[in-house]
Amino acid sequence: MTLPEHEYLRKYLKEQSGLDLATDKQINADIRAMVQHRQLNLLHDFSQLGVFDLIFCRNVLIYFDQQTKTSVLNRLAKAIEADGFLMLGAAETVFGLTNVFKSIAELRAIYQPNEVRAASVRKSAFVAPASAVTAMAAI
Ligand SMILES: C[S@@+](CC[C@H](N)C(=O)[O-])C[C@H]1O[C@@H](n2cnc3c(N)ncnc32)[C@H](O)[C@@H]1O
Repeated sequence: MTLPEHEYLRKYLKEQSGLDLATDKQINADIRAMVQHRQLNLLHDFSQLGVFDLIFCRNVLIYFDQQTKTSVLNRLAKAIEADGFLMLGAAETVFGLTNVFKSIAELRAIYQPNEVRAASVRKSAFVAPASAVTAMAAI
């Protein structure tokens, strides 16, 4: 069931005392406890991490040449659920690099796997992590 945005904020975030209560919130401790931090080199195979609902890869592709960007994006596509999302940096794009992602109207730098990728992933043997919503971030 989809909740209104303010219900998600109330359910999963708490206000931080001492900060600006109108804007400063912290994710609830029970959710923070589920977070795993690991180092990852995107140039290496990361398929063993599983499949994620959301991958943040903001301002990382800028370090790579065109061929490497294509390789990383194609492998990221295999690590995102068919209805999941990839968020790149505002100045980054997948266009001209790969066709495994489609853009979302009016949402800059946010992409979803397209049908080509979805079909190929269904044939593969990825196992989704057990948690309800999973995210990977380059920080
Ligand atoms: C410009 S910072 C962006 C940080 C953050 N994502 C943001 O948008 O503020 C680039 C990041 O890419 C990471 N990075 C560079 N090469 C990488 C690689 N091969 N694998 C994973 N991360 C890499 C760097 O460690 C750095 O944290």
